[in-house]
Amino acid sequence: MARKPIIAGNWKMNMTNEQAKVLIEGLKPLVKDAKKTEVVICVPYTDIATAVSLCAGSNIKVGAENVAWAEKGAFTGEISADMLLELGTEYVIIGHSERRQYFGETDSSVNARLKTAVAKGLKPIVCVGETLEQREKNRTKSVIRKQVTLGLADLSEEDILNTVIAYEPVWAIGTGKTATSEQAEETIKFIRGVIAKMYTRKIANKVRIQYGGSMNPKNVKELMAMPNIDGGLIGGASLKAEDFSLVVNFDK
Ligand code: 13P
Repeated sequence: MARKPIIAGNWKMNMTNEQAKVLIEGLKPLVKDAKKTEVVICVPYTDIATAVSLCAGSNIKVGAENVAWAEKGAFTGEISADMLLELGTEYVIIGHSERRQYFGETDSSVNARLKTAVAKGLKPIVCVGETLEQREKNRTKSVIRKQVTLGLADLSEEDILNTVIAYEPVWAIGTGKTATSEQAEETIKFIRGVIAKMYTRKIANKVRIQYGGSMNPKNVKELMAMPNIDGGLIGGASLKAEDFSLVVNFDK
């Protein structure tokens, strides 16, 4: 029942096209021998065409950072699944805490985007995570349970198996303050338990769950040694080829 580790970069709102070219060309040779780990870069919409063309024939897969729930139409500023697929996009991040915090995403909009993504054949990376205040008030589990049950509601067994979940404690994002491997493992194990209740234990044991939040070359080994942690969603450290490659090659 081995789950293949997945290390995904989330570039967020960084990298112009020219900068993206330099980063990808630098990254390709550094990660080419990562055979046992899936390597993904989730990039701004404007970098997708460039990333797909530069990553063709390499082991790097390309993802977007969001997708519309609607198929097409009057949704100014949104990007549809068909638009992403036509460019060769494989993965898509949904429900990142920055989307929830700054752009009004809710569990229900996350669920709507997710359903469209899986229906169209994009592979989703759905983010969940508690704020510092919620953790300090001992609400981590109830917050995460709600995000998982509502955000991932009504997926078929096949679709949940194609969905990656990223546990990203909001207080660990961009702060340099990583969750300890025990904290990350505990919550990720809890998420697996929630999935087991929604589906079956057998299915839950097959779903990949990443950790995200200040993951870097220094802490990746310890986090990846945890039995329930199947990979990482990497922000800051994915913007430098050398750093990202060291995270990807955590097992070397
Ligand atoms: P950092 O790695 O910069 O903390 O960002 C994590 C993240 O939000 C990935 O989605």
